[in-house]
Amino acid sequence: MPADDYLGLQQAVRQRLGLDLSHYKREQMERRLRAYAQQHGYGNLEGLAKAMGREASLGQELLSYLTIHVSEFFRDPDFFTRLRELLSTLPATKPLEVWSAGCSIGAEAYSLAMLLLEERGATMARVLATDIDERSLERAKAGVYREDELKKVDKERLRRYFVQSGTEFRVQEDLRRLITFRHHDLLQDPYPERQDLILFRNVAIYFTESAKAQVLLGFSQALAPHGLLMVGATEAILRPNEVGLRQVRPFFFARA
Ligand SMILES: C[S@@+](CC[C@H](N)C(=O)[O-])C[C@H]1O[C@@H](n2cnc3c(N)ncnc32)[C@H](O)[C@@H]1O
Repeated sequence: MPADDYLGLQQAVRQRLGLDLSHYKREQMERRLRAYAQQHGYGNLEGLAKAMGREASLGQELLSYLTIHVSEFFRDPDFFTRLRELLSTLPATKPLEVWSAGCSIGAEAYSLAMLLLEERGATMARVLATDIDERSLERAKAGVYREDELKKVDKERLRRYFVQSGTEFRVQEDLRRLITFRHHDLLQDPYPERQDLILFRNVAIYFTESAKAQVLLGFSQALAPHGLLMVGATEAILRPNEVGLRQVRPFFFARA
C-alpha cells in the first residue's frame, strides 16, 4: 500500500474496476470515499482497499456510489427547446446517429428519443446511450420510472409513451427500440464515429480539467462534419478551439 492511502485505494479501484480515479477531482472523490469507508465499517481508505480484495460485490457498489446519477426527463427544459430548433440544421435524408454520453438511468436518452420520434419519425433516428455504471444502465434498460422523475413530461407524452402500473410508469416499446444502452467509459474506451448529435450533460462535474479536455477532444473527432455537441451548464468550455470545437449557440458546439 503506498504511503498515501488515497493513492493505494486508487490503485485497488483501477485493478478491480478498471476505473481510473486520477481523472477525477481528488478532493471530492476522497471526501466521498472516506465517508463511505466510515459509514460502512471499513474504518479508513486502507480498510476499504483491502475489503475490495475480499468482497466481490463491493466494487460495483463503490462505483455506483462514486458516480452521481441524479437525472430526470427533460432536465433543463430550455436545452430541449434549443435542441428542437437546431434539429432542422441536421441532415433529413438519413437516420440521425445520436449519443447520450453519461446517460445514467436513461431519462435523457428517452427524452431525446421522444423528440426525435416526433420531429423525424421512428426510422430516422438511432440513440446510443452509454454510461460507466452498470446499475444505472440496468435501470435505464428496464425503463421504469417514478412520478417525480417524470414531472417535466407533459400529460400527452405520458399517455403516448408510458404505461402506468401503480405509482410507476414503464416506457413503451416503440420508444424503447430507438435506443441502444451500452457500457462505456468516456475516459478509456474508443468513441463511436460520425455522430450527428452528442449530449454531454452533468457528467464532467468531477472530472479533472485535463480529463475533461481529453473527452471533449474525443467528441470533436466523433462528430460528423455537420454534427453538434450539446453540453450542460457544468461542462462550460472556455477555449473550444483547443479541443477542436467552435461554439454555435450557448451550450452547442460544432467541429472547428
Ligand atoms: C448526473 S448523471 C447525468 C445524467 C444525464 N446526462 C443528465 O444530465 O441528466 C452523470 C453520469 O455520468 C456517469 N459517468 C461518470 N464518469 C463516467 C465515465 N468516465 N464514463 C461514462 N460515464 C460516466 C455517471 O455514472 C452518471 O450516471
